[in-house]
Amino acid sequence: MTATQRRILVTNALPYANGPIHIGHLLGYIQADIWVRFQRLKGHECHFVCADDAHGTPIMLKAQQLGISPEAMIDAMNSEHQRDFADFSVSFDNYHSTHSPENKELATLIYTRLRENGFIHTRVIEQLYDPEREMFLPDRFVKGDCPSCGAVDQYGDNCDVCGATYSPTELKNPRSAVSGATPELRESEHYFFDLPAFGDMLKAWTRSGSLQPEMANKLNEWFEQGLQQWDISRDKPYFGFEIPDAPGKYFYVWLDAPIGYMSSFKNFCDQRDDLEFEDFWKSDSDAEVYHFIGKDIIYFHSLFWPAMLKGADFRQPTNVWAHGFITVNGTKMSKSKGTFIMARTYLDHLDPEYLRYYFAAKLTSRIDDLDLNLTDFAQRVNADLVGKVVNIASRCAGFISKKFNGQLSANIAEPDMLADFQQAADTLADAYEQREFSRAMRDIMKLADRANEYIAVKEPWQLAKHEDKAQEVHDVCSMGIHLFRLIMIYLTPVVPNLAASAQEFLNDEFRWDSAQTTLTNHTINKFKPLMQRVPTEKIDAMLDASKTATAPAAQAADTANTANEAVAIEPLAEEIEFPDFAKVDLRVAKIVNAEAVEGADKLLKLTLDIGSETRQVFAGIKSAYTPEQLIGQLTVMVANLKPRKMRFGLSEGMVLAAGPGGKEIYILNPHDGALPGQRVM
Ligand code: MSP
Ligand code: ZN
Repeated sequence: MTATQRRILVTNALPYANGPIHIGHLLGYIQADIWVRFQRLKGHECHFVCADDAHGTPIMLKAQQLGISPEAMIDAMNSEHQRDFADFSVSFDNYHSTHSPENKELATLIYTRLRENGFIHTRVIEQLYDPEREMFLPDRFVKGDCPSCGAVDQYGDNCDVCGATYSPTELKNPRSAVSGATPELRESEHYFFDLPAFGDMLKAWTRSGSLQPEMANKLNEWFEQGLQQWDISRDKPYFGFEIPDAPGKYFYVWLDAPIGYMSSFKNFCDQRDDLEFEDFWKSDSDAEVYHFIGKDIIYFHSLFWPAMLKGADFRQPTNVWAHGFITVNGTKMSKSKGTFIMARTYLDHLDPEYLRYYFAAKLTSRIDDLDLNLTDFAQRVNADLVGKVVNIASRCAGFISKKFNGQLSANIAEPDMLADFQQAADTLADAYEQREFSRAMRDIMKLADRANEYIAVKEPWQLAKHEDKAQEVHDVCSMGIHLFRLIMIYLTPVVPNLAASAQEFLNDEFRWDSAQTTLTNHTINKFKPLMQRVPTEKIDAMLDASKTATAPAAQAADTANTANEAVAIEPLAEEIEFPDFAKVDLRVAKIVNAEAVEGADKLLKLTLDIGSETRQVFAGIKSAYTPEQLIGQLTVMVANLKPRKMRFGLSEGMVLAAGPGGKEIYILNPHDGALPGQRVM
């Protein structure tokens, strides 16, 4: 531990527990992870925690719809999220849930302190109520005609057609999006947090000079509009924590969500003897706390959260850093274009380090949106990581291992160039510290260009043809390896797997300060290819896999056949009314078992889990799948088909498949993010 070692806690916004991680989410987690890895490489104490945001009406309703308990749903989602993050090398020290004992305890404590300090008031408000489901309706769960332009089927908070904002009580012909019932106005007592009482403190924070300029501007706008009392309670039924001494009233999800940062850290401290929760959160703590968030949730993090902490006698965050939103190929992520890419779909096709590098190459400290242009993505990664960086090592390594027994030269051939590369450490550290990753990547690639030029000029492959130039070959190639090493040290926070392979190759262990040392006379290991070029056909495959699973049968048959085979497409069936279609209950089903059926050469017996129950279904897909290929997969089944007695047993439904037959039958395969029992529409 050095005298200047900083104590830092970093968080990233907590993903909701009702859906899988997509590449839009990943921007923030990767940004925070790069910053955290940089701090650790510098030798600072830097903890990184996160959790699933598990409460609220959408999560409660989603679980009901799936016919499972909210606890079962959030548990499954939590493991899935953790797997996705781990596979993108997001190095959380702890990943928890807001539905945890620690969070309940801290939310209760903070609320109680706020109440004791006089910051909680109650007031009766009127709200739309669904008499059928017996629940109050959040704005997004009321639909009706826009009061401004009359557009039908608009949400209760704003109109997609004319952009008007309004309250749900103003909608014409309102109905509950949950049951379809006509909502009625009802009164209920709500609890409010006195945000305006913190106006001066928040204004002082805004003027402190450490905020992102766009964030400070946003805050000033909000101050001008005037701060409002914040409604922090919701009536039952609600999935969350009950408010102490207020039976039937629950904390609004956004009250306990940021407290999840603290409770995940608390849970982490409880597992470690050398860490004290209080050291980081007491009001006079000198540790640093940073929250990385997306631009859509600035209000919660820059107003409510610091005010809540202040009012409950805890420290405030050192800073809150917002990033912009991801677009893909220039537009909003879209399911039909295949650009709504789930983290898992990406991982099924491409190396996560490509995306980490591409994000780094484009990220600044500002709140601008960031476009993931997939053509540019492939070119950039190929040109920079493969063409420039890895190339340095692959041009030099062979000579060192073949001619010099893996040992680097005792000489540094170009001390001035080495010194330049070493001096870059300070400006690069500065760029990382300030989250100017694109500047850091640009500077590192300039170094890589210089290293490649050096090798191109020296041409060690020519020198190697002359017996008497052996020393020069040794010196030049060792120099190249030294330059490669410095570049890889600087890239470590961005591409940790590549850096790990480089360390193995160099027989070295990187810290940020390692850049100031050299490996003269040091023995390195045999060079293995460190990174492949981006396989562009995999990008297309990823986009295909991201397209909605509801492709018409014709299209499915199309892709199922080789180009020169003409496919006979069945004529379309007679038109039906929507209610006819709605009668078909399609569900996501997990194939938990599949086995051959004795005496049947086309059938497989499937056991399908649809969340609420398991079904036995006989499917004529034996010519296309082995049982092993099916077990564990998700598919879609007709769940309300009357059971049919077959020669081999009862078949309780049907699975959906497309294709001409034989080996070419393809069961529908919803994305991994789907959950058994989910309704397919
Ligand atoms: N649960 C809340 C956060 C609570 S924090 C106490 C939430 N969850 S979220 O799942 O919707 O978003 C998680 C993070 O991902 C947020 O920082 C959000 O801004 C970010 N992003 C979601 N979609 C995004 C893009 N398309 N692009 C970049 N970031 C995006 O909000
Ligand atoms: Zn309108």
